[in-house]
Amino acid sequence: MAHQPETLADVSDVDLSGTHALVTGSTSGIGRETALALGRLGANVMVHGRDESAGQAVVDELTDLGRDATFTKADFASVDEIQQLAAAVEAWTNELDFLLNNAGGLFRDGQLTDLGVEYTFHVNHLSPYLLTAELLATLTDDARIITTASGAHRGVSLDFEAMRSVDSYSGFKAYQRSKLANVLFSTELARRLEQTDRSITSNSFHPGAIPGSGFSRFLPGPLPKLFAALDRLPMTTTVAEGAATAVYLTASPDVDSVSGQYFADSEQKQPSKAARDRTTQRRLWELSAELLDIDEPLAE
Ligand SMILES: NC(=O)c1ccc[n+]([C@@H]2O[C@H](COP(=O)([O-])OP(=O)(O)OC[C@H]3O[C@@H](n4cnc5c(N)ncnc54)[C@H](OP(=O)(O)O)[C@@H]3O)[C@@H](O)[C@H]2O)c1
Repeated sequence: MAHQPETLADVSDVDLSGTHALVTGSTSGIGRETALALGRLGANVMVHGRDESAGQAVVDELTDLGRDATFTKADFASVDEIQQLAAAVEAWTNELDFLLNNAGGLFRDGQLTDLGVEYTFHVNHLSPYLLTAELLATLTDDARIITTASGAHRGVSLDFEAMRSVDSYSGFKAYQRSKLANVLFSTELARRLEQTDRSITSNSFHPGAIPGSGFSRFLPGPLPKLFAALDRLPMTTTVAEGAATAVYLTASPDVDSVSGQYFADSEQKQPSKAARDRTTQRRLWELSAELLDIDEPLAE
């Protein structure tokens, strides 16, 4: 079992028995590997995605391990469905130990959601922001929130206009901005949590470039096949390796009180200058609440 994420992350002796984890986007790829690894370590897991049969297959594997596992379907382009997902978590447990904000992707076609927000930004950033806000009361006082960002956040700055427009849409640019938003969000969340009397941590990470996940399925033309073929190259990051940092951040005692940091390969790394900008972190937090028409969570 040398290639399992928990072994790669050196946490295979950690016992998560009795804990509850929500892993969004765990019907496939990094989230699926993470959910199964957490289950092997003893955690009960809520599996999430849109593909019910894929979700049920993950639940069946977790149930075979003796875990309390359940699947909840929710489209991250829908505010209602995020609220229903949060309600399903609350019905499942009143003590959520781990929230892994992992669902997301790179989307070929530009479109606006019902909120008038660019789809990638909505799915990859706005929905995890809303879900986290909705689950704050359900999280334990020493819960860990882990957000799957990406090294693709480097090389862009946040464009507050592009969040509400699909004029001159570029799927990759929109993806980069949404991943920058993930790092900004995770850092601002950590800062605001530090001001509470709770010990909840928030960290984000880059899983690596992983052709073996379902990530490339939304790319145009022959790119999905070409991308998937890279998975056969020996130097490629496997899905299990990609999940290892998520599993490390969830289970390792090394990061018990580490918060507001960005990781890759289970090591703390410095995110881009744009990701470290305090003003942008605060502005994104406030604007996200405005776009969702909700009270600002953890308001100062
Ligand atoms: N693969 C890479 O190279 C790479 C690199 C850096 C970061 N990442 C990040 O890693 C995370 C996981 O991606 P992956 O590579 O594991 O890809 P994946 O295999 O395609 O998994 C994506 C997951 O997100 C869910 N998802 C996508 N759109 C959704 C929506 N609108 N509503 C609800 N769920 C949705 C999918 O669920 P359904 O299929 O059931 O809808 C699936 O479970 C993403 O945040 C991605 O940005 C990936």
